[in-house]
Amino acid sequence: MEPASCRFAAYSYDDYKETADWLLAHTNTQPKVAIICGSGLGSLADLLKDKTVFPYEDIPRFPTSTVAGHAGQLVFGKLQGRECVCMQGRFHFYEGYSIQTVTYPVRVFCLLGVESLIVTNAAGGLNGSYNVGDIMVIKDHINLPGFCGQNPLVGHNDDSFGVRFPCMSDAYDRDLRALAVQTAQEQNCDSFLQEGVYCMVAGPAYETIAESNVLHNLGADAVGMSTVPEVVVARHCGLRVLGLSLITNKVVTDYDSNEKVNHEEVLATTQIRAQDLQRLVRHLVTKI
Ligand code: HPA
Repeated sequence: MEPASCRFAAYSYDDYKETADWLLAHTNTQPKVAIICGSGLGSLADLLKDKTVFPYEDIPRFPTSTVAGHAGQLVFGKLQGRECVCMQGRFHFYEGYSIQTVTYPVRVFCLLGVESLIVTNAAGGLNGSYNVGDIMVIKDHINLPGFCGQNPLVGHNDDSFGVRFPCMSDAYDRDLRALAVQTAQEQNCDSFLQEGVYCMVAGPAYETIAESNVLHNLGADAVGMSTVPEVVVARHCGLRVLGLSLITNKVVTDYDSNEKVNHEEVLATTQIRAQDLQRLVRHLVTKI
């Protein structure tokens, strides 16, 4: 039999605990809500009041960020009076991080006492009725890297976080989704609100036309390169999850199209809609 030491265990409980204890010792904030800010959406963290800011490189055992447009800091503070922690800059699998490193912060949030996780991302629209600038409340996901063995829960299961075989049919909390829809109506965001299925691809290359058609046929409404690993780990340790995708581009599914997706277009759209998304999240957190 294979010795236990050969089986995969990227981090131990003590690693996450060391990070969480250090953070708790350096801030008076006791957040119940954590927010992971997607590409170009990090300015949400700037709205926090009474802030304590920790660059990732100052936090014991925390990974560090490499992508332009991602600040790479953990921001504790109050959003509309509600204590929150924001990840300004997330870790992407395409940057070369292991899938366990991508999800490291989520277990730290759990040990901080966080109960709800809000994840935002930029995504390409596969659903033909979606427009650039729409906000999609994530109803469900397709974990394509997970299909290929890149699930963050592969390896030793730490029972102190959750069960070996966690349920994912309720990954995106029904009440939080309803709250998002209701808040969007109150904030006049309902004209560009959608609800749909997010598919994660590893990236960093955008999809070919054939791949885009496969994803659409699989039932995906939007495609992106993040979020799903964090959600899997969050659900494993019992956090409630709300996911919001900003549709930054229409995915090309037609060979006659001359459109080409690029990162600049993605970031430009996030700038146009960032204020609306921030307003939505700001009003949402007070109700969680
Ligand atoms: N594909 C994958 N990821 C993305 C896209 C896309 O079209 N847009 C923003 N992130």
